[in-house]
Amino acid sequence: MQAEFRQRREQFMAKIGTGTAILRSAPTAVMHNDVEYNFRQDSNFFYLTGFNEANAVAVLAPHHETHQFVLFVQPKDRDKETWTGYRVGVEAAKEQYGADEVYSIQELDEKLTQYVEKADRIYYHFGRDHNFNQKILNLWQRLIATYEKKGIGPIALEDPILLLHPLRQSKSASELSLMRKAIEIAAEAHNLALEMRNPGRYEYEIQAEMERLFRLRGGLGAAYPSIVASGANACILHYTENDRQMQDGELLLVDAGCSYDYYNSDITRTYPVGNRFTEEQRILYNLVLTAQEKAIAQVQPGNPWNLFHDAAVRTIVEGLMHLGLLQGDIEETIKAEKYKPFFMHGTGHWLGLDVHDVGIRQIGETWQSFQPGQVVTVEPGIYIRPDFQPCEGQPEVPDRWRGIGIRIEDDVLVTETGHDILTAAVPKSIEAMER
Ligand code: GLY
Ligand code: MN
Ligand code: MN
Repeated sequence: MQAEFRQRREQFMAKIGTGTAILRSAPTAVMHNDVEYNFRQDSNFFYLTGFNEANAVAVLAPHHETHQFVLFVQPKDRDKETWTGYRVGVEAAKEQYGADEVYSIQELDEKLTQYVEKADRIYYHFGRDHNFNQKILNLWQRLIATYEKKGIGPIALEDPILLLHPLRQSKSASELSLMRKAIEIAAEAHNLALEMRNPGRYEYEIQAEMERLFRLRGGLGAAYPSIVASGANACILHYTENDRQMQDGELLLVDAGCSYDYYNSDITRTYPVGNRFTEEQRILYNLVLTAQEKAIAQVQPGNPWNLFHDAAVRTIVEGLMHLGLLQGDIEETIKAEKYKPFFMHGTGHWLGLDVHDVGIRQIGETWQSFQPGQVVTVEPGIYIRPDFQPCEGQPEVPDRWRGIGIRIEDDVLVTETGHDILTAAVPKSIEAMER
């Protein structure tokens, strides 16, 4: 794996040329008082270094004569390590992470300047650590003040996302195998949920068994707060209370994924709590399924990002018009977004080291197109809250349609010739959802 981290740094450094990139690790997250959340490394920092500790800084300076990759890390400290865990330390980090030079983080102010003063620009992504942001701004201000005298120094400060995120978007073979593992575990958990759903059970029982499997199979845990939403709870997009008792005749929407070695899966299935869909549930389920299949068909190399969402929207609008739940001219309804009370979110997002992974969708007016190696979720839905309010001029929705929420979400890899539905092992046909 070290070879791959090195290769990523080389690819990134080839792009930054005569600039210097400064990357900050994630801070230790404190929950309350001094009780800490589990640590989760910053994804950009992890992608380029593989280094998994808080309070660290990575510097990439391709133009530097001897030190192109420099790490600043927490020094070994027996007392602190007793409380908060093992630290790699300055000595071992050099060898284990392939850095040309490693310093204690306490030396940052003193040592950083030498890696930036001859760069023509600084690449830095402003994060939530305002003190650190200020430190970089101060350094820049100090170096630029002497530019006219010396004719050398960083005349620009640039965000690295345009250079770094396209690299992260294109998944390598080893990244894809971690994603497939995260998906395999989540698929097993979804199949278990499908077996467990029964009237009388509580939503949290399903959550507990799924999350147990995430850990039991070696995953880090849930990739995001699991959504186990029965009945009208399914109309709340990020419902996470998961404390309701399920009733016969309702639907259950389960949106849960697992994190494996920092790579994520993100899967949603919706099925009857009892044995069969009601007529209205079946009609809407079929509509969402068709919309999802049409959207997936648009996930092709070279297709602009907006096409898959447009396909889902058009299918849902046509279907709702056919049912009399929307009315008017199709094009006008789409343009004026009158479908939004039913379907108010995007059809998908990039997936990878982050659940909502990085990636540029649009530059100016131009949609970016899908490229092989990218992974995207495809997750249209229809949500009709009990207190549903249509857009002005649109029909009232009869009671029999209310309280239904449906989403179907798969993780799809863009390939050279089309796509590969990575989550295909989780059934979604009407027949598979009923019993
Ligand atoms: N569960 C988060 C999402 O689907 O985007
Ligand atoms: Mn999801
Ligand atoms: Mn998603």
